[in-house]
Amino acid sequence: KVVLLHSRNIGMTTFMLNICRCEEASPYTLANICMNVLIANLEELCSEKPDGTLCFPEHWSFPQEIADRFLGMMVYQGKLTDRTASIFQGNQMNLKMVNIQKAKISAAAFIKAFCHHKLVEVDATAVHSDLPIPDILSGLCSNSWIQQNLRCLLLDSTSIPQDSKQLSFGQLTGLRILSVFNVCFHTEDLANVSQLPNLENLDISNTLVTNISALLNCKDRLKFLTMHYLKCLTMTKPQILGVIRELQYLRHLDISNHRQLKSDLAFHLLQQEDILPNVVSLDISGGSCITDGAVERFIQQRPEMQFVGLLATDAGYSDFFTTKQGLRVAGGASMGQISEALSRYGNRSCFMKEALYRLFTETFSMHVHMPAILKLVAVGMRNHPMDLPVQFTASACALNLTRQGLAQGMPVRLLSEVTCLLFKALKNFPHYQQLQKNCLLSLTNSRILVDVPFDRFDAAKFVMKWLCRHENPKMQTMAVSITSILALQLSPEQIAQLQEELFMAVKELIAIVKQKTTEKLDDVTLLFALKALWNLTDESPAACKHFIENQGLAIYVQVLETFSESSVQSKVLGLLNNIAEVREFSSKLVTEDVMKHISSLLHSKEIEVSYFAAGIIAHLTSNKQPWLFRDLQRNALLQDLHATMKNWPSPSCKMSALVTYRSFKSFYSLLGNFSQPVVQLWGLWAMCHVCSKNPSKYCKMLVEEGGLQLLYDIQGHSQANPQAQQMATSILEDFRIPFLI
Ligand SMILES: *[C@@H]1O[C@H](CO)[C@@H](O)[C@H](O)[C@H]1NC(C)=O
Ligand SMILES: *[C@@H]1O[C@H](CO)[C@@H](O)[C@H](O)[C@H]1NC(C)=O
Ligand SMILES: *[C@@H]1O[C@H](CO)[C@@H](O)[C@H](O)[C@H]1NC(C)=O
Ligand SMILES: *[C@@H]1O[C@H](CO)[C@@H](O)[C@H](O)[C@H]1NC(C)=O
Ligand SMILES: *[C@@H]1O[C@H](CO)[C@@H](O)[C@H](O)[C@H]1NC(C)=O
Ligand SMILES: *[C@@H]1O[C@H](CO)[C@@H](O)[C@H](O)[C@H]1NC(C)=O
Repeated sequence: KVVLLHSRNIGMTTFMLNICRCEEASPYTLANICMNVLIANLEELCSEKPDGTLCFPEHWSFPQEIADRFLGMMVYQGKLTDRTASIFQGNQMNLKMVNIQKAKISAAAFIKAFCHHKLVEVDATAVHSDLPIPDILSGLCSNSWIQQNLRCLLLDSTSIPQDSKQLSFGQLTGLRILSVFNVCFHTEDLANVSQLPNLENLDISNTLVTNISALLNCKDRLKFLTMHYLKCLTMTKPQILGVIRELQYLRHLDISNHRQLKSDLAFHLLQQEDILPNVVSLDISGGSCITDGAVERFIQQRPEMQFVGLLATDAGYSDFFTTKQGLRVAGGASMGQISEALSRYGNRSCFMKEALYRLFTETFSMHVHMPAILKLVAVGMRNHPMDLPVQFTASACALNLTRQGLAQGMPVRLLSEVTCLLFKALKNFPHYQQLQKNCLLSLTNSRILVDVPFDRFDAAKFVMKWLCRHENPKMQTMAVSITSILALQLSPEQIAQLQEELFMAVKELIAIVKQKTTEKLDDVTLLFALKALWNLTDESPAACKHFIENQGLAIYVQVLETFSESSVQSKVLGLLNNIAEVREFSSKLVTEDVMKHISSLLHSKEIEVSYFAAGIIAHLTSNKQPWLFRDLQRNALLQDLHATMKNWPSPSCKMSALVTYRSFKSFYSLLGNFSQPVVQLWGLWAMCHVCSKNPSKYCKMLVEEGGLQLLYDIQGHSQANPQAQQMATSILEDFRIPFLI
């Protein structure tokens, strides 16, 4: 999908970055949807064998590509266990490429499930220590087909038990690609591996190798050599370069290093004449003393070069690197270089930090949305969940990449993933303030808060806790405003589960309202707090109770006495409506202080104020209990209500407050009682109003909650007020509700 650009000064690289190649912009494939369903329902679809493991129905069989992907998806979702791995026993599933990254299965299960397949690739990156390398190797070597045909074996970050003997790769004669990044792999193991007759591609980054002379054994075969951060090398630079010089056929060499180690190996390499004649890709990121001039000279002598890694060096800044055709650069000098760095170094936290930091400074002046970049940020966050600098820098980048309008152009699924990763970071680093601030800020983004799926329950919990921390006023305002929106997105059941947070949040919000009232300051924080309280108490008797117990009513009377803006009044009355709907609390409202204001606001010129005051009166008078000794007052209120409603515009009129209901339940007791026609009338007017504003939502609600019968009853009732009958008819007919059923 090509995104239109608005700025003229954007170079070609930026343009390329905006062509969103990320799959999140497309719907899920049918195959993926089907496999997801299978995985979600494994327990039901499978039968259980006597040993407690699962198997698919006998007649099922998966073609190889689907079987490979199915396994990959199970692993990604954390569903591969000893119990489920048994699905791959036998020959129903035909595996060729096994990917069990980070899985937790035992050696026995691994051998039974996978080692009888004709495997050509095995990715066991970071599998759990239940499955150490010696067991993987002996499992694979138990099958002579695999011995000869396995081409690719990735063992990054897998474990080797302390007491194990020397690793034996020798039997895997078909092996072309081997990666032991971040493994306790020694010089002797390298000697063993270097004998493999077909080895072309070797990654020994961050291993315990001290001497790479053994590589000379495979100098005629080796095309790709990655030895990033080979921290234990004891050889001198001339010795290392001597070995590299012999590797005539190398096309890719990676000797990148942590910047802190100040390694000048790359500096010396660049000075060498006629070394690496066939190289097309050289990674020297993190090297010391590297200059643009030296790199340029090296590349000019090798015109076939396609890639150079220069992140965390002093090079990459000259025009040469932007103008050289066909050369990709991972570095920090431009958006293109940063993007290349992010996509190459996803697994190297030291470079990830550096690239994210560069990205962050670039995002200051960014005006286009870059989904592909945001996705790379997400990958970095996912790969390094426990690395605080990565999480923190990535959260700041994510924030700037989605700020305000930029989020509009991002695929929802991508935003959803980023938001979930941010919350994961919060859980992993609960005491790191700035990370929390970044999370909070990302939620102030209305697209994320409204459109994007994420765990709103967790989010509400976090935001309400934050609310009570008395941070600086700006952050508090943000927390209040997010609470006010999240409150509406939780179901009443979820709110009920948030008792403790809810209790603290209501108390805190009341305190904010009180303080603003004392200061006579009707700023946005006050308005957000009133809105949050209104929304939190909606259909939540528990929240109403906390409100009353924390002197909320007295404070709200003060609010009404202090501010006369209708935007304040309608929010106050909205909350009082919520309390009036709860029968057991309605008597708390029937006090002189409260009723005085309500009867007076009934006559407000602002229809929304009058409407909410009328709602309170309708709910309160429908219950005779609180009026035992004041029947006169009750009758007077009802008469006043009737008289006022006669002057109201039609229910389809516009109000400046958006009236919303989560359900019509509280209306049904009003509508069903024919001895109180005015109360009925208010209920009908209200329903008519919201149906006219959002027919699809409310007409559906009316039908689903069984409210239709009440309308028919009113239509046909001999004692019903004619105006009420007319209103019921109009709801039924204007919205053609009977046709919805
Ligand atoms: C590799 O190591 C194993 C176990 O020590 C040994 O049996 C095998 O001969 C070695 N292979 C080579 C080629 O050195
Ligand atoms: C590295 O190994 C080679 C071959 O075994 C040996 O000749 C050389 O002395 C070793 N170098 C160092 C520095 O240990
Ligand atoms: C990073 O590691 C994952 C496994 O954790 C692997 O699938 C992926 O290809 C690696 N990415 C890079 C850029 O090396
Ligand atoms: C990016 O984020 C930083 C810190 O969060 C902020 O100071 C900066 O203004 C943001 N840049 C833009 C363009 O919003
Ligand atoms: C109707 O409302 C009146 C007045 O509150 C009450 O006495 C009566 O019991 C109600 N009737 C029903 C059926 O709820
Ligand atoms: C929530 O608050 C908003 C803004 O004050 C209001 O428009 C809306 O009707 C409230 N919704 C509910 C269900 O309380």
